[in-house]
Amino acid sequence: MKKILVVGGGGREHTLAWKLANDSDAPQVFCAPGNAGTLSVATNLDIGAEDIPALLEWAKRERPDLTVVGPEAPLCAGLTDLLEAEGLSVFGPSKAAALMEGSKVFSKDVMAAAGVATAASASFTDVNEALAYVRAQGAPIVVKADGLAAGKGVAVCSTIEEAEKAIRLTMEDRAFGDSGSEVLIEDFLVGEEASILALVDGERAVMLASSQDHKRIFNDDRGPNTGGMGAYSPAPVVTDELWPAIQQQVIEPTLAELKRRGIVYKGVLYAGLMIDNGEMKVLEFNCRFGDPETQVVLPRLSVDLGPILLACADGTLSEEMVQWKPQESVCVVMAAGGYPGSYEKGTVIEGLTDAGAMEDVVVFHAGTAMSGDNVVTSGGRVLGVTAMGTTLREAVDRAYDAVSKIRFDQAQYRTDIASKALRRG
Ligand code: AMP
Ligand code: GLY
Repeated sequence: MKKILVVGGGGREHTLAWKLANDSDAPQVFCAPGNAGTLSVATNLDIGAEDIPALLEWAKRERPDLTVVGPEAPLCAGLTDLLEAEGLSVFGPSKAAALMEGSKVFSKDVMAAAGVATAASASFTDVNEALAYVRAQGAPIVVKADGLAAGKGVAVCSTIEEAEKAIRLTMEDRAFGDSGSEVLIEDFLVGEEASILALVDGERAVMLASSQDHKRIFNDDRGPNTGGMGAYSPAPVVTDELWPAIQQQVIEPTLAELKRRGIVYKGVLYAGLMIDNGEMKVLEFNCRFGDPETQVVLPRLSVDLGPILLACADGTLSEEMVQWKPQESVCVVMAAGGYPGSYEKGTVIEGLTDAGAMEDVVVFHAGTAMSGDNVVTSGGRVLGVTAMGTTLREAVDRAYDAVSKIRFDQAQYRTDIASKALRRG
């Protein structure tokens, strides 16, 4: 491939662009819009990830060999369908298939029909009925806005009062806009989470290496949910016994049910799992690569990424195409002070060159931008400092060593990334 367009500008997209740019055929990679990190591996375009008309215009003019869509919003807006109608190859599901993430009610309905294990739930378009349901069910309970909410639409509530507040915030105050016109109320599940990213070519699904995200802002999984504060791969909670069960009991029946509804799935089907005593339930599906899961999974891939993603787009994926390095990987997210609440932008970041020069370390940028010659913060999650090691311990130590070389005012990060796996020994 000569020319690849990556849509998006976060840590996931920097990772995709970095991996693609390192392919043996050295394709020219473009990022729309990219960030300060993608500048070193790609050409940044002044086009936002949700500016569908401008993306379409650029792609029609430049005719990339492949477009890789990172975030859920353009997928749910139908970018894939529009590009495919122009005869272009796209990695990412159609608008209809992206509904697996775009509507939690739809995704639950598919799971129920497919017999996929998930938390018991009910959905409501009426506030009073939703309130009556949580009062009857009791706490803890989970309230979810049906539509996209940039990772903020889920409230894990330990009391009925909290759940009532979440319902009112979502349905009456419309904190997440129209995404809150319907809510899903779900039983609270206990256990340990894991993420499975399955590549799908319309027919076949190949699961990528397992990983575990860290959703809460503070150590020991305390504080509010974030987009993800760190990850590691592989995740030992996904045992050798669970691995085939995920393929056979989650991924395949879900794809078969979608097909039964006339929906062909291509791209990543991301299953967020809750695992308790060797039993798994699906927490959610996403229609894209995870962030920061991508930052730990892709560096472990020992083969070129471009041909694999093109095979998904063209329907020619095979299990043998996906090969792994034996090393384990860890990503520590450095975030701006105040995140996931309000935070400052424009803070100068120092030490990136020192950290990036370390062996088996890559500093993936998320919310960064250039200001003159300086790299400055421009988002909540700023960097994903990723390291590989022959053991998880080695990867963890190396990642935190790299983190210690990077400085910006009010930086915050968790110091316990991968500790659940390390405790298993
Ligand atoms: P979701 O976007 O649906 O994955 O929810 C975001 C996060 O909220 C998940 O990664 C879990 O940490 C938590 N969560 C979601 N649903 C549940 C549930 N039913 N029980 C416990 N925690 C949940
Ligand atoms: N890391 C969670 C997500 O990408 O949704």
